[in-house]
Amino acid sequence: MSLKKDIIIDSIPNHIAIIMDGNGRWAKKRNKSRNHGHKEGRKSVRKVVEACAELGIKNLTLFAFSTENWNRPKLEINFLMKLLLTSLNQELETLTKNNIRFKIIGNLEKLPKRLSSYLIKVTKKTQNNNKMTLTVALSYGARKEIVDAMQAIGDKVKNNLISLKNIDESVINQHLYTHYLPDVDLLIRTSGEKRISNFLLWQIAYAELYFTKKLWPDFSKEDLYEAIVNYQQRERRFGKTSKQIN
Ligand code: IPE
Ligand code: IPE
Ligand code: MG
Repeated sequence: MSLKKDIIIDSIPNHIAIIMDGNGRWAKKRNKSRNHGHKEGRKSVRKVVEACAELGIKNLTLFAFSTENWNRPKLEINFLMKLLLTSLNQELETLTKNNIRFKIIGNLEKLPKRLSSYLIKVTKKTQNNNKMTLTVALSYGARKEIVDAMQAIGDKVKNNLISLKNIDESVINQHLYTHYLPDVDLLIRTSGEKRISNFLLWQIAYAELYFTKKLWPDFSKEDLYEAIVNYQQRERRFGKTSKQIN
């Protein structure tokens, strides 16, 4: 029996973010190369994007490659960059057909030129789509994002475009890579690790965290439904008392 029927459509999360982890361990268990695990992980991306679109989730953000992942072996990095390019190439039509807006966050300058130009092209091509926004965090680190925002704001203060006393949370929000996104409601991490690994530190301030042991290539639509059902059973109090909420 699918858990899909247990999801209350009126209160689905507005923004789901996923740390897609465990490709390497998935492959190791099968005596395959880590790259084989990454290739397999691609299928999960497809399923999850499809499931979110079907449910009417408005924002999905996927962590694909962190600033720290640049420290991995060169061969693995090259493989991942190629995989991203071919995947995107193959999915462009699906994005368009399903009215999905594609966005990218992270330090694009560090990416191979061919990949970054293609990412920009896909972003432009899908910019008017409005069923769902799919953001891929690539060469992304939350601390770097915050540093970049601080520099941009500092620059504006210096040039008298904004005064110090007017800097508030909303100003900071507007200078983050994710300025077009609402806060994260549900953060999912696969593979059993219970850490954030420098992902969306500001945006998850009040997110519900969901950790599953499933390795990313094994993560299915049903696993996503399970996470959403679990999320919907929680009471989000935002500092208030339970009585105030109900
Ligand atoms: C997640 O899987 C994908 C990326 C970080 C690119 P990993 O490659 O981290 O897999 P494990 O954690 O080694 O199993
Ligand atoms: C986090 O996974 C980054 C992505 C999923 C892209 P890692 O596997 O790199 O994280 P750590 O190093 O185990 O924290
Ligand atoms: Mg990992």
